[in-house]
Amino acid sequence: MASQAPGDIPFVRDFDKGKSRFAGYWSLWSNSKDLFQDAYDSFTKHGQPCWIPGSSFSKHLALPHTYLPWLAAQPDSVFHHREAFNDLLKSKWSLGGSKYIMEPWSTRLFVAKLRANLDALIQDFCSELPSAVAEQFGEKRTEWTEVTVYGAMKTIFIRAAGRWMVGPTLCQNGEFNRLAVAYMETVFYVSGILHYTPRILHPLVGPVASLRQQYIIAQAKKLVRPVFEDRLQYLSFSSEKDAPKDFLYEAMKHAYTTRREDFNLHDITIYGLYFYWASCHQISLTATFTMFEILKSDAEYATKSRLQEETVRVFGADGPTWSRATAAQCSLMDSTLRESLRLNSFISRHVFKKIMVDGVQAPDGTALPKGALTCVISRPLHTDHELMTEGGRFIPFRFAAAHEIPEGTPTDGAGKKLTAITPDYLPFGYGKHACPGRFLADAQLKMVLTHMLRYYEIELSPKNPCPRPVIHREATLPPRRAMILVRRRAKA
Ligand code: HEM
Repeated sequence: MASQAPGDIPFVRDFDKGKSRFAGYWSLWSNSKDLFQDAYDSFTKHGQPCWIPGSSFSKHLALPHTYLPWLAAQPDSVFHHREAFNDLLKSKWSLGGSKYIMEPWSTRLFVAKLRANLDALIQDFCSELPSAVAEQFGEKRTEWTEVTVYGAMKTIFIRAAGRWMVGPTLCQNGEFNRLAVAYMETVFYVSGILHYTPRILHPLVGPVASLRQQYIIAQAKKLVRPVFEDRLQYLSFSSEKDAPKDFLYEAMKHAYTTRREDFNLHDITIYGLYFYWASCHQISLTATFTMFEILKSDAEYATKSRLQEETVRVFGADGPTWSRATAAQCSLMDSTLRESLRLNSFISRHVFKKIMVDGVQAPDGTALPKGALTCVISRPLHTDHELMTEGGRFIPFRFAAAHEIPEGTPTDGAGKKLTAITPDYLPFGYGKHACPGRFLADAQLKMVLTHMLRYYEIELSPKNPCPRPVIHREATLPPRRAMILVRRRAKA
């Protein structure tokens, strides 16, 4: 391919010509699915970057996925992912401040905690899970209960992950969990409003749009205060053996020792809420989509019973004992989750970066302009029929080990794991800034779905026999009110 200057990079559907720029923003609002498909089919699939309409009436640069190995090798001083997220999320207004995303100490702390003992986090989650599910699904054994899946999943993840994040007292506080869910949702509500507001108006619209988030933060602070004050005593202990082992305490300790400007109730609360958002939002969506996919595909693939048999094969008749190692043995569940995430990623673009310097040249010689917000269009890539047999269909066990793939099912995906990132599979991003929580997400998703299938009978509700994803602007969401029927099994 011939090299080109920044001015030569084409705009999808020629949206840079005349009045078409407005039509471009309208397509982003009204039918982003087709817009991104066009950009992929016409340009990025063939190794060519193109401009697409972007947030706040700007333009973004869609890069081909074949650039990814090169992109991953670029330093943050050239391609910066936090600058891009700060811009996209409008974090000053949506998160409660830009520093929660721009200052990465909480992420570094989390990664260190994961490396030190991932299994301890898995155990914490596991210990809270039965009560978290029972709270949403109930314990009735004779009658069916109707459950709104997306709402239930959000609260289950917030409560069970809260065990390793904020400890047993706060994670079981229903009011605190409602606020954590509300914070997560409000992040998108605020950034969504600003996404479609011209940048020049952000200083006026931002404060108004973020009023609800400020209220949520203020209420959350009241509930965090007693826990925060209780933990102050441990910071002054010379011996740490009695200190709580959760993320909240470790964040307080880190701020106390190395970031005094963040050592206060306000900042620690927002860092905590930000972490709930990072760790519980996409996982609740994935669990919801996967539950629907399991139920919808059951008639054709016996999905439920094959997953149940796998649990018995891996864990025996007794209750499961979870660790990273046992989670890795659940190959059919792994495949079902990967397949669900491939088709139902929350967003249609991944690997966002901002170009920080002049003179950047892509591998094919194309000059990439400073200041551009770049991304890789992922949904059409994940479903491309030329890259994967029947790419648009949900086939639960296509990624299982070759000998477990049922006859008649495509085998070109055999053995690909949920968390294995390649340039054509991007739900967790790509490169050194790919999701650091994905190995924990892997285990948590398997724990939740296995627990539900093992201890509950679950059916689609006749009220919504075929729940389908809803594309809302750029986001893919489960139908908010879609329900399932659940009934506690007499015996697991
Ligand atoms: C299905 C579930 C999940 C999906 C699809 C997902 C996806 C992602 C993606 C796409 C990113 C951005 C990567 C980039 O910069 O390109 C990300 C970042 C992040 N994820 Fe996940 N994630 C999931 C679950 C989790 C969980 C369970 C945790 C924590 C327990 C977590 C923690 C984080 C953190 C801390 C970041 C920000 C990293 C940073 O600050 O650089 N995620 N995730």
